[in-house]
Amino acid sequence: MFWYHEETKHSYDSVHRNPGQLDWEMQPIPYKIYPAGNYVKKVFNGDNIEENFLYHIGGLTAKKSYPGVEYFLRINPSAGALYPNELYFQVRSVEGVADGIYHYETHSSSMVLLQEITEKTGLEPYFGFGTAMKGYLFLVSALYYRSAWKYRDRAFRYCLLDAGHLLGSIEASALLKPHAVQMVYALEREKLNRMFGFEAREWFVSGALVAVPMADREVEPIEFELPYVDGTRIFRRYPMIEKVYRETEALHGCKRAFLPPKFSYTEERLRETIIARRSQRGFGGEAITKGQFNYIMEAISQPILSDCDEDVSVYVVINRVLDMPLGLYRDDTYLKYGDYSQQAGYLCLGQYSLAAQAAVTFFLTSKADNYQPLYQKAGVIGHRLYIASGYLGIGCSGIGAYYDDEVNIFLENDEMVLYALAIGK
Ligand SMILES: Cc1cc2nc3c(=O)[nH]c(=O)nc-3n(C[C@H](O)[C@H](O)[C@H](O)COP(=O)(O)O)c2cc1C
Repeated sequence: MFWYHEETKHSYDSVHRNPGQLDWEMQPIPYKIYPAGNYVKKVFNGDNIEENFLYHIGGLTAKKSYPGVEYFLRINPSAGALYPNELYFQVRSVEGVADGIYHYETHSSSMVLLQEITEKTGLEPYFGFGTAMKGYLFLVSALYYRSAWKYRDRAFRYCLLDAGHLLGSIEASALLKPHAVQMVYALEREKLNRMFGFEAREWFVSGALVAVPMADREVEPIEFELPYVDGTRIFRRYPMIEKVYRETEALHGCKRAFLPPKFSYTEERLRETIIARRSQRGFGGEAITKGQFNYIMEAISQPILSDCDEDVSVYVVINRVLDMPLGLYRDDTYLKYGDYSQQAGYLCLGQYSLAAQAAVTFFLTSKADNYQPLYQKAGVIGHRLYIASGYLGIGCSGIGAYYDDEVNIFLENDEMVLYALAIGK
C-alpha cells in the first residue's frame, strides 16, 4: 500500500490516544483575495448565463452564525468546512465573458482577471493541447494548510477529496448548459505552480475542460509570473504533505476514459438541487425505496471523462432500502447478508447518527497507482452521490473519518480505503 496512505490511517488507538486539540491562534482563513486595485474584478451577475454557470460551481449558499463567529457554506462540500481548494480558469471565445485567465473569488462571488491571453497564446499547452480551446479550462489547486491545521498529515487526503467534489461541482453545473466535462490530471504542474506564484504553499492538483478545440488555431504556451498572494493568513509546513505531493505529481500508465456519462434529470430541478445541497447532520432511520436506490446507483456508476481514469471500487452497505435484503453489496451482487448498520456506524469513528442511521452507507476503495487522480475520482463519485440523492429529496454526507484497517477487514479487501459516505432520511 502507498506509504502516505498507510501512515495516515486512523485506528481506534490512534484516534483515542490523540484527540487532537485545535490551536485557534493558528486557524487559517478559507479565502484567497487578490489585492483590489491591482486586478479587475467582476461580480457574478445571475442574469448572465456564463456567470450563472460559474456561480453554480462554488458560490456561497448559506451562512452559519455562532456567538462571535460567522462563516459561510458553499455549493461544494468540504471536510470540516475548511475549503482547502482554490479555482482558476481560462475563458476563450465565450459569449458574454472577456477572454483571460481568472481567479474564482469565492468570498465576493466574483471573477478576478489575473492575466490576459491572446489568439496565439494561452494555457492550452499546459493541458496537453496544441490548439486553442473554445470554452473553459479550469485549474483546481490545494492550499493544504487550511485542512492540515485540523487534520494534520491526513489532510492531503481531504484536499484531494474536496478537489474531486469541486470537479464534480463543475460537472453538475455544466449539466445546466448542458456540456460534458473532462477531468484533466496530466498538467504541467511545476511550471503552472511557478507561474501562479504559489511558493510551495499551494499546488495544482487537477484541471477540468468545458471546451471544444478550435480547428487550425495553434497556440503557444503563455508565460507570466503572478506575485504570491497569501490565502491562509498563517502557515505551517507539513513535510509529509510536501513529500507526498511531489511524489504523486508525475503520473504513470494512465488510461483515458472517453465515454461521456448520461444522467437523467430536468434542468430546473437540478439547479434547485445544486443550490440547496447540504450535508445531512444525522439521519432519522427512514428507509428509501429500491427505485430511488437504483436511480442513485445509476448516476454514480456513469463513466467519468478523464485523462487518467483509475479504478475505484464502490462497496455498498444496505441498511434500509425497501424490498432489498440487508447486507454488503458490490457491483449488483451481495457479498454478505446481514444487518451491518451498527458496524458501519462504528467503522466511521462511531458516527452512528450518520453511518448507522443511514439508508445506505458507502465505502470507496482503490488499489490503483496514481494517487492524486484516484483520490479525486472518489471525490467526483461522492459529489454525484450528493447531487443524485439531493435530486430525489434524500440526504447525504461525506465521511472522511473511518478506521482504515477495520474497514478492510469488514470489506474483506486490502485496497486503500478512500472515502465513506452515507445517504438516507
Ligand atoms: C471529504 C469530506 C469528508 C467529510 N467528512 C465528514 C465526517 O466525517 N463527518 C461529518 O459529519 N461530516 C463530514 N463531511 C461534511 C462536511 O462537514 C460539510 O461538507 C461541511 O461542513 C460543509 O457543509 P455543507 O456540506 O452542508 O455545505 C465531510 C465532507 C467532505 C467533503
